[in-house]
Amino acid sequence: MTAFSVATAAYIVAALLFILSLAGLSKHESARQGVTYGIAGMAIALLATFILVVDVSDTLGIVLLLVAMAIGATIGLIRASKVEMTGMPELIALLHSFVGLAAVLVGWNGYLQHPVYALESLERIHSAEVFIGIFIGGVTFTGSIVAFLKLSARIKSAPLMLPGKNYLNIGALVAFVALTIWFVASPNIWLMIIVTLISLALGWHLVASIGGGDMPVVVSMLNSYSGWAAAAAGFLLSNDLLIVTGALVGSSGAYLSYIMCKAMNRSFISVIAGGFGIEASGGDDTDYGEHREIVAEDTAELLKNASSVIITPGYGMAVAQAQYPVADLVRKLRERGVEVRFGIHPVAGRLPGHMNVLLAEAKVPYDIVLEMDEVNDDFADTSVVLVIGANDTVNPAASEDPTSPIAGMPVLHVWEAENVIVFKRSMAAGYAGVQNPLFFRENTQMLFGDAKERVEDIIRAL
Ligand code: TAP
Repeated sequence: MTAFSVATAAYIVAALLFILSLAGLSKHESARQGVTYGIAGMAIALLATFILVVDVSDTLGIVLLLVAMAIGATIGLIRASKVEMTGMPELIALLHSFVGLAAVLVGWNGYLQHPVYALESLERIHSAEVFIGIFIGGVTFTGSIVAFLKLSARIKSAPLMLPGKNYLNIGALVAFVALTIWFVASPNIWLMIIVTLISLALGWHLVASIGGGDMPVVVSMLNSYSGWAAAAAGFLLSNDLLIVTGALVGSSGAYLSYIMCKAMNRSFISVIAGGFGIEASGGDDTDYGEHREIVAEDTAELLKNASSVIITPGYGMAVAQAQYPVADLVRKLRERGVEVRFGIHPVAGRLPGHMNVLLAEAKVPYDIVLEMDEVNDDFADTSVVLVIGANDTVNPAASEDPTSPIAGMPVLHVWEAENVIVFKRSMAAGYAGVQNPLFFRENTQMLFGDAKERVEDIIRAL
């Protein structure tokens, strides 16, 4: 048996493990097992690739490979062990950018190794692979960097609205198609440079044009792009496993983006085309009047007399790590006979299922944690709603103001309740950068401060 056949067999096993991993990750109960399959698949893939590429007589090559693997593994381990759950999306975006950059470099390497081909049909395919690989990689690279900067709040999450932005995107795509035809007919380094620059600019512009409220879809879309970039690199390196894995990531990411778009009432095409058809709303400078404030003791009084309470947590609960006192408060209220439930928005926080994980961690019973659709009709019959660190996901502008950047996004109808108490530290906007008229409604009162401290104050007062 040759090293090549062993490595090929190992690739098939790794590909199967990746498929099992995706299947496992699709369900809460099997997610942990899915991750184990993924780790095993990746370990086998790494080992097999090492066997495939290594030349036993080239000691320097082996040492360089081992050093590169050790550096990568160390950085990965340190970053993964330190990352906070609220920082996961930005880390994922950064990792996607590496895949994009790798595809660009593999493309350039492919060209520099074989800059000119005899123009026979199969060899033209190589040129097309180089060009397409660089384009997808470039878009993924800068798109993911912008997503990282937006998710980590290093730049504003509001959409960039360049004049004629849709024409810029379409122009870049048309130029790419024309340049690909030219390059396949006659490869040259200037076309390589131009396509690299166009792809980098397009990736930057596509993601910069998308507003904060649509970022969950953007992250899964970039996940998909990174898969296609890996598949393109797989073609260039003639690596079957990279092609299979890239296609798995590309298609599952595309499907996840589609599901998220449906859940958030967004057009899939509009989002992947960089907010195509979404026009500038000119910002919200509406004067909503004065807000009212409440203190923890009065909130406790309100809760004592309430018959039903719904808690709608958001990103701020995760930041404050308020889930433990919140779970305590829920226990106390239920002991007093108050009906308490949670209403969870599908994109509350910064990760799919973020709030569910936090509440499960704090041992809140599953049966009182309801999805948005299960609870949205009940707000009108609810005495008190506690909005704990949520903002965009409870913004009435989404359903009432067609010019709002988040118009059409389904939100929790908290404003229909008798009393709404909003826990946050200031009047600042939420992730989408949009003003929230809920804070100025007659039945809303603001409870300012860190969510954890305020919930603890309420427990003391109770
Ligand atoms: P956001 O709109 O992000 O608002 C969170 C609020 O929490 C802020 O207004 C902030 O106000 C408050 N806050 C922060 N730290 C706090 C603390 N220590 N104590 C009390 N309040 C605190 O929250 P959301 O309603 O959960 O919406 C999520 C947003 O993120 C959506 O726009 C969604 O599209 C986007 N997003 C979601 C995901 C996924 S998959 N879930 C991924 C990426 C982006 P102050 O600063 O005034 O305290």
